[in-house]
Amino acid sequence: MKIDILTLFPNMFTPFLEESIIKRAIDNDLVSIRVINIRDFSTLNNSQVDDTPYGGGSGMVIMCDPVFKAVESVRDDDSLVIMMSPSGKVYNECIAKELSTKKHLIILCGHYEGFDERIKTIVDMEVSIGDYVLTGGEVPALAVMDSVVRLIPGVISEGSLESESFNDNLLDYPVYTKPRVYNGLEVPEVLLSGDHKKIEEYRNSERNRVTKEKRPDLLK
Ligand SMILES: C[S@@+](CC[C@H](N)C(=O)[O-])C[C@H]1O[C@@H](n2cnc3c(N)ncnc32)[C@H](O)[C@@H]1O
Repeated sequence: MKIDILTLFPNMFTPFLEESIIKRAIDNDLVSIRVINIRDFSTLNNSQVDDTPYGGGSGMVIMCDPVFKAVESVRDDDSLVIMMSPSGKVYNECIAKELSTKKHLIILCGHYEGFDERIKTIVDMEVSIGDYVLTGGEVPALAVMDSVVRLIPGVISEGSLESESFNDNLLDYPVYTKPRVYNGLEVPEVLLSGDHKKIEEYRNSERNRVTKEKRPDLLK
């Protein structure tokens, strides 16, 4: 898979791409991620990319031309263009799974007051990461990129993905590690039993219990 992130603040991505599972996925050629500066596509003085809104009001609006040109520079027949936007479809694991099957994602990060509305004519999908407003689309793009990359086959083990939260509309079961007792808090006995069938039953029932308690909406 290829992911191109179009942003006015490319440096925000550098440390994230150089650590942990994402770095390993890149090093192992399971994904190729490029971060592209929209400003490089400006033809105006001082590489201007934004201007005041027509009709008045505060803030600056990202202009069509550099974004159209930046998208054109990377788009091909396999591309899906995703705009980060508070008014987009609220992101979830189901969308992450769908995106992880695509060959090429182009992720547009807004800033300031957001994008000129006409940019939406070259966008396939608008995505919000929740009902709150961030200063820019960089954190949302990182969330989308991270959640998609970990679903690409080979990035993390199949077993780790199987019982994860949101699979089968359930949350994950609680996990424990050594020591067996910490400050008087004990690990559930069944997990020490070595009885794999019982452990599986316990974990399944815990997934149901935790989901009922914390996210009953998932069970509907
Ligand atoms: C300050 S926001 C613009 C907010 C916009 N004026 C509004 O009220 O909807 C700047 C950029 O941050 C990104 N952004 C902010 N909140 C987001 C969210 N919840 N989900 C996805 N992107 C978001 C978008 O790319 C947006 O264009």
